[in-house]
Amino acid sequence: MFERKINGKGHLEIGGADAVALAEKFGTPLYVYDENYIRGMMRVFRKTLEQEYDGNGLVLYASKAFSCMGMYAIAKSEGLGADVVSGGELYTALKAGFPAEKMMMHGNNKLKDELALAVKNNVGWIVVDSLYEADMLNELTKEAGKVQNILLRINPGVEAHTHAYVQTATPDSKFGFSVADGSAKETVKNLLTKTNLCLKGFHCHIGSKIFEKQSFVLAAEKCFAFLSELKGLGFEAEVLNLGGGYGIHYTKEDPDLNFSDYADYFKALIDAVKSECKKRNLKRPYLCIEPGRSIVGEAGITLYKVGAIKEIKGIKKYLAVDGGMFESPRYCLYGSKYEAMLANRANEAPTEVVSIAGKCCESGDLIGEGFNLPQAKSGDILAVFSTGAYHYSMASNYNRNPVPPVVIVKDGNAEYLVKPQTYEDLIRNDVLPQSEK
Ligand code: LLP
Repeated sequence: MFERKINGKGHLEIGGADAVALAEKFGTPLYVYDENYIRGMMRVFRKTLEQEYDGNGLVLYASKAFSCMGMYAIAKSEGLGADVVSGGELYTALKAGFPAEKMMMHGNNKLKDELALAVKNNVGWIVVDSLYEADMLNELTKEAGKVQNILLRINPGVEAHTHAYVQTATPDSKFGFSVADGSAKETVKNLLTKTNLCLKGFHCHIGSKIFEKQSFVLAAEKCFAFLSELKGLGFEAEVLNLGGGYGIHYTKEDPDLNFSDYADYFKALIDAVKSECKKRNLKRPYLCIEPGRSIVGEAGITLYKVGAIKEIKGIKKYLAVDGGMFESPRYCLYGSKYEAMLANRANEAPTEVVSIAGKCCESGDLIGEGFNLPQAKSGDILAVFSTGAYHYSMASNYNRNPVPPVVIVKDGNAEYLVKPQTYEDLIRNDVLPQSEK
């Protein structure tokens, strides 16, 4: 877990830096990441793969959780691959010098331009998710005189216990081809006829925020049952990507996992892979996983300044902060819960329960409800925990609010990963109509 350290001044610390000093120096709202935590998590997955599976595979950072050039640079230096899902993520990774051969491209409706960019740059694997895409990709690679390594996204039909919107492998998912109804096998037959595509294996991802080891193990077992079935076609998978999805600690309702617990999750998956290979007499595939949230989620906190405070007698008390759904969309989207602390009064015991409102023109614009805090004053610095995944990456300019900057802290030293957006940035692509110029 991310350790909530408090310094001698009674201030919250992150990455060895005083959170209040960070808020003063960089302004609020501010996304702050602890670099050691990110690197620590990356190493946990990479080392587990080395120790338990002779390093025969690749840990891909699922960059949708938090994508910017600096993150790809960190993933590269830790020896990870990257999962990219759009031309934008691919472009950002390439600009950061990330090796294309260690990238895997996902998406249920990749655009022709996105595929062309991937082919041009020799992306390691493209995960095909429709026949429409396979045909388009085959044409593109033919034109380029190349053969592209692909995986097929399959749906093993495992129901993971998580929020409906973040589930991806239930029978009615928009992702993948169902193993159960035979469409995955039919698609394999089709893909094997494509002259410029080389089917290397399969990918599945059963969902996100999952804590049940058994869900991952079950998905692996279902994948191997499918791999066995394919023996009849004379096809043996060389690569198997079992996706991401490990849960993190948001509130007391969630388990609090430390680094070695994540190693255990991955080890359980590897054990299942090994035993399935043995049982079914299959060659051990090159094994990939692609965690996102678990690498960056707890590594990130968001700092805000408390502004207006409003109490609706007998009903609720709102603390309004200088952020909102434009930079913290998960409460509005999924009803996600968080824990928070007054970073400048971190030693004080909570005395009241409050709702934290954003500054957007919308009643539902909340950072969350039910926060236990000491009685806050305007000007206090509020820290919300576990905001490192799917916050910055899902931020918008709603109400023309600039997306806050991102800083990363290591051993007390903070630097920008993403500089603040300015008002000038907001109008950069705006054009007045001819008639009004
Ligand atoms: N691989 C694939 C194919 C995925 O679709 C995802 C997440 C991942 C890997 C990484 O999963 P993770 O380890 O981060 O759980 N916006 C939602 C989460 C959507 C997840 C989408 N796919 C949220 O804020 O909870």
